[in-house]
Amino acid sequence: MPAVAINSTRLNDNLTALGQIGNTDEGMQRVAFSSFDVAGRDYVTELMRRAGMTVRIDAAGNIIGRVEGSGPSLPAIAMGSHTDTVPAGGQYDGALGVIAAIEVVQALADAGQTTRHPLEVMVFTNEEGTGFHRWLLGSRAVAGLWEAEDFSAVHDDGATLTSRLPDIGGNISHIAEARRRPDELACYLELHIEQGPTMHRGGYPIGIVTGITGRSVYHVDIVGEANHAGTTPMALRRDAMSAAAQIALKVRSIAGEMEICRVGTVGSMDVHPNAGNVIPGRVQMGVEFRDERMESLAAAEVELRRTAEEVGHAEQVGIAVTAQRNTPSVPISGNMQQLVADAAEVAGLAHITMPSGAGHDAQAIASITPAAMIFVPSVNGVSHAPAEYSTPEDCANGAQVLLNALLLADDR
Ligand code: GLV
Ligand code: MN
Ligand code: MN
Repeated sequence: MPAVAINSTRLNDNLTALGQIGNTDEGMQRVAFSSFDVAGRDYVTELMRRAGMTVRIDAAGNIIGRVEGSGPSLPAIAMGSHTDTVPAGGQYDGALGVIAAIEVVQALADAGQTTRHPLEVMVFTNEEGTGFHRWLLGSRAVAGLWEAEDFSAVHDDGATLTSRLPDIGGNISHIAEARRRPDELACYLELHIEQGPTMHRGGYPIGIVTGITGRSVYHVDIVGEANHAGTTPMALRRDAMSAAAQIALKVRSIAGEMEICRVGTVGSMDVHPNAGNVIPGRVQMGVEFRDERMESLAAAEVELRRTAEEVGHAEQVGIAVTAQRNTPSVPISGNMQQLVADAAEVAGLAHITMPSGAGHDAQAIASITPAAMIFVPSVNGVSHAPAEYSTPEDCANGAQVLLNALLLADDR
C-alpha cells in the first residue's frame, strides 16, 4: 500500500476555522438550519471544491462531494459526518469527521494519487436533531430510513421541515431521491471524537468502534393545576413539578441503582407558567434511555410507564408518556473493525475496541453499506459542551488512520 500522509497543520487549521463559525460565549451554536449552520456548510463546501471534488446538495440537504476513481464503474468509498452542533456544544463533534474526510481527499490529490474507487465526502443534515427533534435526518434519508414523523416535523419555532429544507438546498417532496442504492457504495468510514472518558483515561490514541448504542426517546406531558403558591395548602395541590421531579429521579435510578439500562437522562423540561409564585400547572419533559441491548431499552420503558402511573395517581395529575423515537443499536462487522485495526497498525498507533455510547450517522448508513467508525480521545471525556477538546495530535492520528483505512479498502 503506497504511503500518503495527511497534513496535520492544514487539518487542524481548517478545524479551528470551522470552529469559529457559530462560536459564542456559550459555546458552539451551529444548530441545524441556523444561519451559523448555513455559514459552516458554505465553508466546508469551499474546502471540498478546493480539494478537487464536484459538490452537490441532495434532497435532504446533505452536501456530497465526489472525485472519480480510476477503476471501471466501481462503487464509491464514502466518508463523512456532520457539521451541525447541539446548542452550547463543542467544536469537534461531527466537525472532525468532515474536515478529516476532506483532508484525506486533499492529501491524495497533493500526492497525485487516484484511488480505484470513486470517493465521496458526505456532510449530513441535522445529525443532532435539535429544533425539529428528528435526528440523523440526512443520513436516514440516504439510507431510506425516513419515517412519517420526519415528513411532518415541526421546529420549536413553529416552522415546518418542508418549509425549511429549501434554506439548505433540500426539497422534501423529492426526499426519495436522496436514497442511495447499496450497489453505489463500497463502504462508509466515519472518524469521530469518542465523547466519553475511556480513551483519554487509558491513553489510547485510536478507538475501533464495535457497535453503536440504541436510543429511545420519550415526551412526558404532566398536567396538574396552576394555583397560588402562597395560599394553596400542600394537601390540596396538583403540582406538575412535584410529579416531574419524582419521574426525573426515577429515570436516573432506572439506569443507576436498578441497572435496567446503561444510561438514562432527563435533558429538557418546559414548565408552565414558569413563575416563582405559581404552582406549575404543566410540565413537559424529554426523557431518553440508551443501551446496546434493545431488551434493556424495552424494560426501561416498562419501568418509566409504571412510574408515571404511580406518580400520577399519588400527585393527582395526568401524565402522558409518548414514545418519540426508538433507534436500534447497530453492530459494526468484524471485517470493518479489522480494517480499522490494520489501518492503525500501518500508522503505528495503539488501539482499543469499544462500543459507542453516542449516536452517529454511521448507524443509519450501516443499513445500506458496511460501515466502520474510528474514535480519537476526548480530553477529560467532555462532549456536547463548550469544553469539548481533542488534541491536534490526536485529530491528526485519527485522520491518518482514516486515510490508511480508505487505501486498504480501495485495495480490497
Ligand atoms: C448524538 O450526538 C447523540 O446524542 O448521541
Ligand atoms: Mn453530538
Ligand atoms: Mn456527532
